[in-house]
Amino acid sequence: MSTLIFATNNQHKVDEIRTVIGSTFNIITLAEANINIDIPEPHDTIEENAEEKSSFIFKLTNKDCFGEDTGLEVEALNGEPGVKSARYAGDGRSSLDNIKKLLQNLQEIDNRKAHFKTIISLVLDGKSYSFEGICKGTITKELKGVDGFGYDPIFVPEGSTKTFAEMTMEEKNIYSHRRKATDKLINFLSNKQS
Ligand code: IMP
Repeated sequence: MSTLIFATNNQHKVDEIRTVIGSTFNIITLAEANINIDIPEPHDTIEENAEEKSSFIFKLTNKDCFGEDTGLEVEALNGEPGVKSARYAGDGRSSLDNIKKLLQNLQEIDNRKAHFKTIISLVLDGKSYSFEGICKGTITKELKGVDGFGYDPIFVPEGSTKTFAEMTMEEKNIYSHRRKATDKLINFLSNKQS
């Protein structure tokens, strides 16, 4: 394995994962691989959507690759928005619209517990593997901070008093779901090489 294609068009995810991976492994984005497509997310689970992304790109390129899917699961909303996190407020709506809908649905609700779940799905030498990262935390009552993306302005990870959007990427990576899943990916790839 020399290079892995990361099946995403989300530059925030690329930056976060690259910061964790450093120079240990070479990852290239879809754009860098000259692949200009939006991979569908047609399934009802985060696991299946992550696998859809990696298998889609593997079928297209026959190269080692990985996909990543993430959802925010809120306890008082029975795990919503979950797999629908990207389109919670409807197709084509913004992250701010999604946040507003979530805060609206949590109005008057004291239980603010939630967690992010990331699944990384790897295809290596034609075989599939998956790695999970969970970050527990709470949903704030209002937006705080301007960094990060998605639901970052309303999510405070356990062990911190700041939202992800009030943190640098390096601080977010101390707690984050994506970093935890990426650590497992790195560990797996390192063992394969040794
Ligand atoms: P997807 O994994 O690209 O489908 O993202 C699902 C949704 O969750 C999108 O609305 C993202 O903005 C949001 N999301 C994914 N990862 C994060 C994160 O690390 N922080 C905040 N929101 C995220």
